[in-house]
Amino acid sequence: PIKVAVMTSGGDSAGMNAAVRSAVKMAIYKGAHAYVIREGWEGLVRGNEAGSEEGQRTPTGYAKGNDVFIPTYGEGDLLREGVGEADEIGLKGRYIVRVGWDDVRGWMSEGGTLIGTARCAEFRERSGRLKAAKNLISCGINALVCCGGDGSLSGLDRLRQEWSSLVKELHDTNKITSKQAEKHSSLRVSGIVGSIDGDFSGTDLSLGFPTALTRIVEAIDSISSTASSHQRAFVVEVMGRASGALASSAAISVGADYVFVPERPPSVNWRDEMCDILRRQRIVGKRRTIVILAEGAIDSDLNPIKAEDVRLCLEKQLQVDARSTILGHVQRGGKPVAEDRILATLQGVEAVNAVMEATPETPSYVIGIRDDTIVRLPLIEAVKQTHQVSEHIQNKQFDKALALRDPEFIE
Ligand code: F6P
Repeated sequence: PIKVAVMTSGGDSAGMNAAVRSAVKMAIYKGAHAYVIREGWEGLVRGNEAGSEEGQRTPTGYAKGNDVFIPTYGEGDLLREGVGEADEIGLKGRYIVRVGWDDVRGWMSEGGTLIGTARCAEFRERSGRLKAAKNLISCGINALVCCGGDGSLSGLDRLRQEWSSLVKELHDTNKITSKQAEKHSSLRVSGIVGSIDGDFSGTDLSLGFPTALTRIVEAIDSISSTASSHQRAFVVEVMGRASGALASSAAISVGADYVFVPERPPSVNWRDEMCDILRRQRIVGKRRTIVILAEGAIDSDLNPIKAEDVRLCLEKQLQVDARSTILGHVQRGGKPVAEDRILATLQGVEAVNAVMEATPETPSYVIGIRDDTIVRLPLIEAVKQTHQVSEHIQNKQFDKALALRDPEFIE
């Protein structure tokens, strides 16, 4: 059978658990064996301690599914209970674990990622990827579904591109047998964009963005009422790395008075320009001022714009009582909103379909959504375009950067 491993990588985002649940269930439904990799690339590089190489667990029973027998492992939720307590439930030293239908029960509504994630320096080196390949082969895994941001997904593509040479090296150094080398001559991969930043080219939405936006809007609604009470101005800094997607969507959603985004930077005289606009609003009776700042905000000379700079400017030039709030990780955590749950479920299904149908000739795909349709995008092209956006910003080619954020660009 095809053995599909599912992992999450990079910064967590709401909906990742729903995506893992969907991919695990779809893999089992399709007759494949399902595995999860705990702690992202870090877990794949570490693999399983000697004695538990196969990543197998002994099923406690079988349920009859649609034409397939589904392994079950007792009362379910083993991984969920075990995430912080790997020792107690026998997962210590085991990062690649066979899972059954009931293991992912109840995962739809959980925030974060229950199988863990990590940013892994070792995987960026060939030696790390060699270990990862060895660990996948030891467990007999021939398909990998990864949910993460552009960095994680380019790592996935790299692993696939190098796969033949990694297998050859493992064989030449007697780390795997000839039979294993033959059986694992190719690796099937697919990606799911999981990132709150909304910066991935080619998809209208990435997993976690709707939830993060909802958190931001709720927070700013709360800030607005206190701001209005005291006639204060607030600067609210939101996440997004080099992307202004969260900031601009939040600004529309709350009717903000001013927004700073990296893709459309203000001139170096932004202080005067901003205060002119905000002053006019105060004159016509507005009691509060809300300025939203993307964390990657810059001016047109690429100087970073910081929340404290904006706050001081509001106090000095606008002469209002001003506060700043950096929302931070509250934006990333908590229960996924319905939109993320639906997106995760549909993408998990399609990611498994993509690996089940993959041949050595087909490109690696990342699953996205465009015009309400789940689509397979060529992974490497989409990652390349995502990186080009930052390059254009660095070269002050802001229109080009914005054009590349437009999903229509990938044909
Ligand atoms: O990429 C997701 C993200 O939340 C960014 O918006 C933010 O800049 C970064 O991750 C924060 O990373 P960390 O969780 O490592 O502080």
